[in-house]
Amino acid sequence: MHTLILYSTHDGQTLKIARFIAGRLAGNDTCEVVDLGQAGQIDLLRYDRVLIGAAIRYGHFAAELHDFIKQHLAWLNQRPSAFFAVNLTARKADKRTPQTNAYTRKFLAATPWRPDRCAVFAGALRYPRYRWLDRIMIQLIMRMTGGETDSSKEVEYTDWQQVGAFAQDFAGLTSKSGLK
Ligand SMILES: Cc1cc2nc3c(=O)[nH]c(=O)nc-3n(C[C@H](O)[C@H](O)[C@H](O)COP(=O)(O)O)c2cc1C
Repeated sequence: MHTLILYSTHDGQTLKIARFIAGRLAGNDTCEVVDLGQAGQIDLLRYDRVLIGAAIRYGHFAAELHDFIKQHLAWLNQRPSAFFAVNLTARKADKRTPQTNAYTRKFLAATPWRPDRCAVFAGALRYPRYRWLDRIMIQLIMRMTGGETDSSKEVEYTDWQQVGAFAQDFAGLTSKSGLK
């Protein structure tokens, strides 16, 4: 299998997750990890299956995700495919499934893409790396939702066991099947 993993990140956590999954696929697979913004420059027809990971920022996935789906819908729906979302709402276990994570549920309801698998992963909170306005906004959201408010902290909430289990499931996805 020749697998393409596309990622849309702002602060790097989605790329870290994409690389982790690629590492788990190594062995029975050739796998390339590519920035979604650069996907226009590669020959998509070389790949047998695709995984797309995207982060949430201020309630939205990046426009490049929606643009890519619009431009390559037939290609996406013709091969085994999967999607994962990354956000901080998912730091709470009860908001970490495609059905219980509002961003992901809305995305899946609206998109014409039919991924065979979907997961939601908790991202990372890295206050010292944010610009001051972002830091204040995130601090406000964390205060409202009972999260970490110490702006000197960096916290990684990603459950790597969950990511590993998803990678294993995705590794077995060799033909199109219904969304699980
Ligand atoms: C400016 C900013 C806005 C964010 N907005 C949201 C949000 O609306 N909802 C949410 O659950 N997480 C939000 N997050 C958390 C990110 O989704 C989380 O930090 C994730 O790990 C970012 O992924 P990335 O490192 O791949 O960009 C936000 C983070 C930042 C820095």
